[in-house]
Amino acid sequence: MLAALEGVGADPRRGGFTRPGFGREEATLHEWFAQEARARGLDVERDRNGVLWAWWDVPGGSRSNAVATGSHLDSVPGGGQYDGPLGVASALAAVDHLRLRGLSPSRPLALVVFPEEEGSRFGVACLGSRLLTGRLDPAEAAGLRDASGVTLAEALAESGLDARHLGRDQAALDRVACFVELHVEQGRGLIDRDAAVGLGSSILGHGRWKLRFTGQGNHAGTTLMEDRRDPLVAAAGAVLAVRAAALAVPEARATVGRLQPLPGGTNVIASAVDLWVDARHPDDDVTAALLESIHAAARAAAEAEGCEAVLSTESVSPTVHFNHALTSRLGGALGGAPVLATGAGHDAGALAAEIPTAMLFVRNPTGISHSPDEYAADEDAEAGALALADALQELLLLP
Ligand code: GLV
Ligand code: MN
Ligand code: MN
Repeated sequence: MLAALEGVGADPRRGGFTRPGFGREEATLHEWFAQEARARGLDVERDRNGVLWAWWDVPGGSRSNAVATGSHLDSVPGGGQYDGPLGVASALAAVDHLRLRGLSPSRPLALVVFPEEEGSRFGVACLGSRLLTGRLDPAEAAGLRDASGVTLAEALAESGLDARHLGRDQAALDRVACFVELHVEQGRGLIDRDAAVGLGSSILGHGRWKLRFTGQGNHAGTTLMEDRRDPLVAAAGAVLAVRAAALAVPEARATVGRLQPLPGGTNVIASAVDLWVDARHPDDDVTAALLESIHAAARAAAEAEGCEAVLSTESVSPTVHFNHALTSRLGGALGGAPVLATGAGHDAGALAAEIPTAMLFVRNPTGISHSPDEYAADEDAEAGALALADALQELLLLP
């Protein structure tokens, strides 16, 4: 199944895949998913937040007390092949395994695909699951803009959805009793434990902030060095300060992965620079303090250059601990799998605030993710799909 997706969003410049949320590539993959689900006799629907649901119904039963599994099909710019699609393909493969086993579930199963999990296009991590669970103000969401100025409302309209209907969907949530997301592991946990499959214990709290530096746009040749107010010089100081701030706090991680000078010309002193900070720590108060110290350092770097720095928050996701009873039940069904924490964000984190939620991880032999070097061996992917089938079987047979 993953091989069938290789042509979609392949990025010749960055390598890997670029599949922005609510964009053409993600829509193509959503269509692929709907076809695969329909080919298995599942009933596919798209809710008002753009989340896809494919139902294996209990004959004569209602859509309630359901078990749900799934992931996402969008990607970061130049991302790997497995982050998201492995969980979706494994959900479809698990249905195949359960059918081959002749399972007749006593509860419905829903395969779920969340849009714009990476937040690569509109800036907010886990956009679809946040909207579904009401963790994002719908009016604020509708006005989010991508890098070319398109609003989420416009992108939704393009894909046949109406932004006026965004927001918490209690009826959709009420149908689901528990959620299990399978994902490629994005670090070295399973390599170190010498295991193909593991269970998740927690998601590291994570957030995104934008720093805007403003100075004086000017001519690169006529402006004396001592006359400049160059926001890119201030931003360079902030990049170094972000790393220093995170290094000073045990367990903290902070990254500047995106920086944009405006207008962005070789012979132009920028008038403004936007840079984005991704910061993570298990203690949400420590993350808040870390951001304060980053903001103070950014203001100092700006002041030294005669510029200004303004910080705004794009999204904050607190640390999540997965449901202990569900995770140990699945551990039993899998004959004991290692349990590990992850530093990556997932839709399962948003769902965990609503319903018992668990995660399965599949070994990534490179330990690298958000890069074309992310990988999963076929045998491990198959072990993951079988483990997901075992986990779902355990849950689908419960009354
Ligand atoms: C998503 O993978 C994230 O951790 O940002
Ligand atoms: Mn990711
Ligand atoms: Mn992911």
